[in-house]
Amino acid sequence: METIKILDKEFVPSISESDILFNIEKMAQAMNQDLADTNPLFLGILNGSFLFAAELFKRITFPCQISFLKLASYQGSSTTGKVKRLIGLNEDIKDRTVIILEDIVDTGITMENIKKQLLGYEPKEIKIATLLFKPQAFIKDFPIDYIGFMIPDEFIVGFGLDYNGYGRNLKAIYKIKPE
Ligand code: IMP
Ligand code: MG
Repeated sequence: METIKILDKEFVPSISESDILFNIEKMAQAMNQDLADTNPLFLGILNGSFLFAAELFKRITFPCQISFLKLASYQGSSTTGKVKRLIGLNEDIKDRTVIILEDIVDTGITMENIKKQLLGYEPKEIKIATLLFKPQAFIKDFPIDYIGFMIPDEFIVGFGLDYNGYGRNLKAIYKIKPE
């Protein structure tokens, strides 16, 4: 099996480029059915979602817009420590359908945080689309509207996902090489 090395770790192929693009195509078709009359704003979460967002967005056939947000770490004034603040929202999303695009939902903590912050701007509705979902790691209970792949609780890289900033440029998705 093809093994690749990123920094100190070895990875093996997990999801091929053609399988990724096939499932993104299916997701786009579902959205083209469900959301055609909603004039939504897609919101990609940087950095991980940029390739997924690009491949999905070019397959959307109805009028829509896209923008990108980032989570900034900063020391909160409270003793609870780090709070991740959502930055980069320049659009007015009040009464608008918003579709969050994420690379992966793991525990769900990040997505719950993003959703809570966006709800403060009073959108009409928030839909969630993620390329990857690890159901065994998920500890939250919000619904995920569009899922590209359900995967086991294993660390992966490629197609936008990184290991310490590297590996995002891989066309396929790789998982940690089993011992
Ligand atoms: P969560 O808050 O636990 O759901 O984690 C979400 C974030 O952790 C994602 O947006 C990714 O940036 C990162 N992440 C989770 N699992 C992986 C993985 O297997 N590979 C790379 N990044 C991951
Ligand atoms: Mg991410």
